[in-house]
Amino acid sequence: MSAVTKPELEVETKAGSEALPDGTDLLGDQFKIERPLSNGGFGITYLARDNFLGRDVVIKECYPEVFCRRDGKSVLVRSKQHAEKYRAIVEMFMREARSIAKMRHPNIVGVHRIFEDNETAYMVLDLIHGRDLLSVIKEERHRLTSDQVKEILIKILDAVDLVHQNDLLHRDISPDNILLDKWGSPVLIDFGAAREEASRETRAVSSVLVVKDGYSPQEFYFAGGKQSPSSDLYALGATFYHLISGEAPPNSQTRMAEFAGNNPDPCEPLAGRFPEYDDVFLEAIDKAMQILPKARIQSAREWMHLINSKEERVKPLKPRAKADLGKVLTRLVSETNEYVLNSEPRAAKDLPPLPLPVKKVSSKPEWADEFNRETSEAATNGTSSKKETHSTSQPRPDMLAVPEPERKRGILAWFGRI
Ligand SMILES: Nc1ncnc2c1ncn2[C@@H]1O[C@H](COP(=O)(O)OP(=O)(O)OP(=O)(O)O)[C@@H](O)[C@H]1O
Ligand SMILES: [Mg+2]
Repeated sequence: MSAVTKPELEVETKAGSEALPDGTDLLGDQFKIERPLSNGGFGITYLARDNFLGRDVVIKECYPEVFCRRDGKSVLVRSKQHAEKYRAIVEMFMREARSIAKMRHPNIVGVHRIFEDNETAYMVLDLIHGRDLLSVIKEERHRLTSDQVKEILIKILDAVDLVHQNDLLHRDISPDNILLDKWGSPVLIDFGAAREEASRETRAVSSVLVVKDGYSPQEFYFAGGKQSPSSDLYALGATFYHLISGEAPPNSQTRMAEFAGNNPDPCEPLAGRFPEYDDVFLEAIDKAMQILPKARIQSAREWMHLINSKEERVKPLKPRAKADLGKVLTRLVSETNEYVLNSEPRAAKDLPPLPLPVKKVSSKPEWADEFNRETSEAATNGTSSKKETHSTSQPRPDMLAVPEPERKRGILAWFGRI
């Protein structure tokens, strides 16, 4: 799955999709659907044109397919008994869109319009030109350096911190919901599963909780499981576990079962396995992914502090004994005096060269230039690709089927080459 440029946007409309046909107008003639990008079970995402502003956008349509069906352009409830539930979901969709719109952050997708049409709701999002982390994991030519991975995590932590400061949870953090724009900067998308704490109370809302194997923490798998910021941090840890190790972590339900049975954790920690990363960085990811919420990192800020503590940790100079310190200082002072008094002033040419400026690590991934080139080339050709099929291992009847991320093998080889 890859979210990207208009010409290169990879369509993943599944067979039998109930997406609106290309060319459909929305909100009068303000927006025109260009093509569907995905149908995630809860919403259908389209590439569209904002005719008023003359720019391409992404439009997300509230379409909980368990409860509704398409009739022409309209979205109708499948049965009368679902009417109330469906309405509650549409309203929740609007509330969430407003909450996201309030959060203005460079690493959170911008929502710039919300409207109702066709008996459902739509949110208009900034089109991010780039790729999602899942395709970055899958394609060797897009591999990231450890510095880039660290930079991406720090930016996403800042975004997640803002989400949590606003008393929201994302609830669906995973590699396919983090896009890298063409400069390699991450953007968090798909708050489709985000729920305000209050709305979680209602039956209608709890019925659309989503789980994504490998990324969802164990508390997402049972009704009434207490969800907290640490739940999002688990999913973020799992996302970076996948990015670094090349393997999505095991399902948290399996981990939980092994834990309960006092068996070894099937999730092998990252720390100590990837020398291109310092252990403090890897240990923080391992901590975020603890099975029990209490044992995890509790906030995005705490995580950032943990990462930064590595840089701040300067080893203090410890004299062996207090008595020695005086002697050492006396010797240093006399040696310095002797040197200053006896030295001739040095000509500029004898001075050691100034250190060269430190080369900053570019956040621009290696593939950015290539990508830009492809983008303009593809404008004339047009491209498309398959949709990944996903399913939960044991879907609960009251949960919507959700995509199971495809697992990538082979990234180890990439890192081995760094
Ligand atoms: N703002 C955007 N810019 C570019 N591409 C996007 C944007 N939003 C979504 N996409 C693309 O569309 C795909 C699907 O979007 P999104 O993740 O919002 O929905 P979903 O996972 O299919 O649905 P659901 O809300 O039901 O979970 C993304 O993985 C990405 O490839
Ligand atoms: Mg998604």
